[in-house]
Amino acid sequence: MPSTIEVEASAAVAQLALSEKASLGGGSSFWESSAARGVPSFVMSDGPHGLRRQEGSAADHLGLGASSPATCFPPAVGLGQSWDGELMERVGAALARESQDQGVDVLLGPGINIKRDPRCGRNFEYLSEDPFLTSHLATPWVNGLQGGGVGASLKHFAANNAEFDRMRLSSDVADRPLREIYLRAFERVIRDAHPWTVMCSYNRINGVLASQNKFLLTDVLRRDWGFQGAVISDWGAVGDRVAAVAAGLDLQMPGDTGFFNASVVDAVLNGTLDERDVDRAATAVARTALLARYHRRDVSVDYTVHHALAREAATRSIALLKNDGALLPLDRSGRIAVIGAFAVEPRYQGGGSSHVRVTDLDIPLTEIRAAAPQATVEHAVGFTTDGSGGSDALCSEAVERARNSDVAVVFLGLAESNESEGFDRDTIDLPVEQLAVLEAVVAVQPNTVVVLSAGGVLHLAPVHALVPAILSGGLLGHGCGAAIANVLFGAVNPSGRLTETIPLRVQDAPSYLNFPGEHSRAVYGEGTFVGYRGYDAREQEVLYPFGYGLSYTTFAFEDLAVEPGNDGLAVKVSIRNTGSTAGREIVQIYASKVDSAVSRAPRELVVVPCEVVNAG
Ligand code: BGC
Repeated sequence: MPSTIEVEASAAVAQLALSEKASLGGGSSFWESSAARGVPSFVMSDGPHGLRRQEGSAADHLGLGASSPATCFPPAVGLGQSWDGELMERVGAALARESQDQGVDVLLGPGINIKRDPRCGRNFEYLSEDPFLTSHLATPWVNGLQGGGVGASLKHFAANNAEFDRMRLSSDVADRPLREIYLRAFERVIRDAHPWTVMCSYNRINGVLASQNKFLLTDVLRRDWGFQGAVISDWGAVGDRVAAVAAGLDLQMPGDTGFFNASVVDAVLNGTLDERDVDRAATAVARTALLARYHRRDVSVDYTVHHALAREAATRSIALLKNDGALLPLDRSGRIAVIGAFAVEPRYQGGGSSHVRVTDLDIPLTEIRAAAPQATVEHAVGFTTDGSGGSDALCSEAVERARNSDVAVVFLGLAESNESEGFDRDTIDLPVEQLAVLEAVVAVQPNTVVVLSAGGVLHLAPVHALVPAILSGGLLGHGCGAAIANVLFGAVNPSGRLTETIPLRVQDAPSYLNFPGEHSRAVYGEGTFVGYRGYDAREQEVLYPFGYGLSYTTFAFEDLAVEPGNDGLAVKVSIRNTGSTAGREIVQIYASKVDSAVSRAPRELVVVPCEVVNAG
């Protein structure tokens, strides 16, 4: 960023009248900031796993209205499973190109809230239950985006971990978990990637609305972490603009803020708001606008290349959860029964503000047929996903297909109506009709592979008990079909790793009794024991742990050495592919502190995981 932009922003604001400075603090429309003399406006858009660019009157923050077609990369729940910063950066750079192509200056993401409870309706937009992994993935994504000249908006700041009562809910969280778990990822991304903007959340933190929270927006964000950018409100998160500006908010969104702009002027004139706060807010908005103008350029996007990247990213997002008897990869010949509505109508992204209108969509059944032209591939719907449930006829058809095949591939998951922004789930169960079909299929076809698609963690114990092989990619974006076929037939060896623990039962989750809260309060009673920290500390058995994922090959970790390094400890390890298939391994290093004076998790992820591509 040219250093002159800071100077230019201050100079532009210095020559504005109070009313002009106040107006910079409110949007001019649903997606655009206001301009003033010497200060241009800038355009924002959802995302973040693809662009939801809305023009003209089709503006909403619920994902209902039309938007321009865009590439749909895997949402955070999928992409995070790659554990791969380099891939995140390439996706960020591609999103920058599409943003510039569509006249967008700031893409509203990434979402980096911690997955505190498996039932949070928006977990599909977040990366992990672990703050270190979250920042490890979000930092390169922001670098990729901003390196392409488009600003990020780190959201939702902060402790926004449930959708229930989201405009009022107070996240009542003690200092240590707040700093160590819920703020830590924000801190690292801000220090390392310098996002242009941060978006404050709807909820309250310890009773104070995020948009009016001086501790959060000024003391922590600016004073402790040195944030230089603009704080933008979530859409409709501001109740009292004067209190918000005093606390550290810079831009209230969306538009139609005339009343609030006037309230800022009045408050300065009657002495209840310091004009220096208005100047700070106006300067931050001006800085963002000038940055945007400086970086804006004409680009042309090759959407075919982006489709290929979406497929690659989706393939890398898939985690192999079970593979007894090396059932996978499948032969590309023989008879394959493909079962489930999701094979032809895939579930590949979440509902709400991040919902992208896709340029293209890979259908799993089509891709399976294309990958195995010698095989006889027959499909049965098995169950419906529109809430009408299953029927005996659909189930019988699935069973017949499975009986007459060498292998069955059953697509299970959640429909968009089961999970979305705006509400949490009561249960993490799969729909009963899906389990009923699976049971009936397995009874006639023991060689059954389950392919899962869902934005939130599922109760997989019954599935695990039934079938020898399970693949899960969370939500995979529009390259889902090719990605699933790549892994099913072994064109790519799966290397995804879970970013969130899959418990045996939802009741085992550390936050179980304190979610989503009541009377507009959620007590974060589990403290720092979030996710695997809590399961480990209580020696709770889980179905699949954080960081878990199998491969078609095996790796040996050898010659582990821990030595004093320049900045702490240096860990060295050799990794050898002991199988016959090329594969990718992710090294995860955890540490614990012996004799800690305060309670701590038995182990915490501490080192940037390094990835190893290893030929067999
Ligand atoms: C969501 C944000 C989103 C904004 C604009 C809000 O409802 O919480 O994530 O960026 O709408 O659509």
